[in-house]
Amino acid sequence: MELNIAEVKDLDKVAELVNQAYRGISAPDWTTEVGLIDGPRTNQHSLEDMIENGASIILLALDNVSRKLAGCVALTPMDSGEWYLSMLAVSPHVQSSGVGRSIMTGAEKFARDAGARSLKISVINVREKLIEWYERRGFTKTGDTEPFPYDDPGVGVPLRDDLALVTLTKSLMA
Ligand SMILES: CC(C)(COP(=O)(O)OP(=O)(O)OC[C@H]1O[C@@H](n2cnc3c(N)ncnc32)[C@H](O)[C@@H]1OP(=O)(O)O)[C@@H](O)C(=O)NCCC(=O)NCCS
Repeated sequence: MELNIAEVKDLDKVAELVNQAYRGISAPDWTTEVGLIDGPRTNQHSLEDMIENGASIILLALDNVSRKLAGCVALTPMDSGEWYLSMLAVSPHVQSSGVGRSIMTGAEKFARDAGARSLKISVINVREKLIEWYERRGFTKTGDTEPFPYDDPGVGVPLRDDLALVTLTKSLMA
């Protein structure tokens, strides 16, 4: 799937897509945070902060036929060639049809071509099926867990008090 780098003019649509993908579906499912966290996942202003000065790159996946936004992912270079991958989101209309898999393949290629040696992700601990999905993409748990940011209103309203972030990594070296 073709991935394009998002510009500021794209970010209202990206915020809408991310909020729909993470929390916009009515029933809890393995693909969403419904039942775990309420409220918006992000907003246009936060996304502008992310890409300001090139700190992060947001990649957009457009539907091959309609050219509408089908998904996105963010990449943030960190120390020692490790890049943080976050905000992977697929439009609810096309979830579970291979778009997420395809975005991950493209994002890995983008990061590798730009010099990344490994990717790091954080996944909410109780989303076991999503963790398994990343494991099928070649990620492995590092054994580290970070606290969920309960005191950050920017992440939404957590509905449970047992959330934490599990760290997984994937080497991009051949
Ligand atoms: C999670 C997400 C990125 C996955 O992308 P997607 O396009 O929906 O998923 P794909 O079509 O690429 O993959 C579907 C997978 O689900 C599996 N699957 C289908 N039904 C399933 C079910 N009921 N339970 C578990 N897995 C299921 C399929 O086997 C397939 O896995 P495989 O590729 O290893 O065989 C997407 O659903 C999404 O945007 N979710 C909301 C945002 C989010 O939670 N992002 C991740 C934050 S860390």
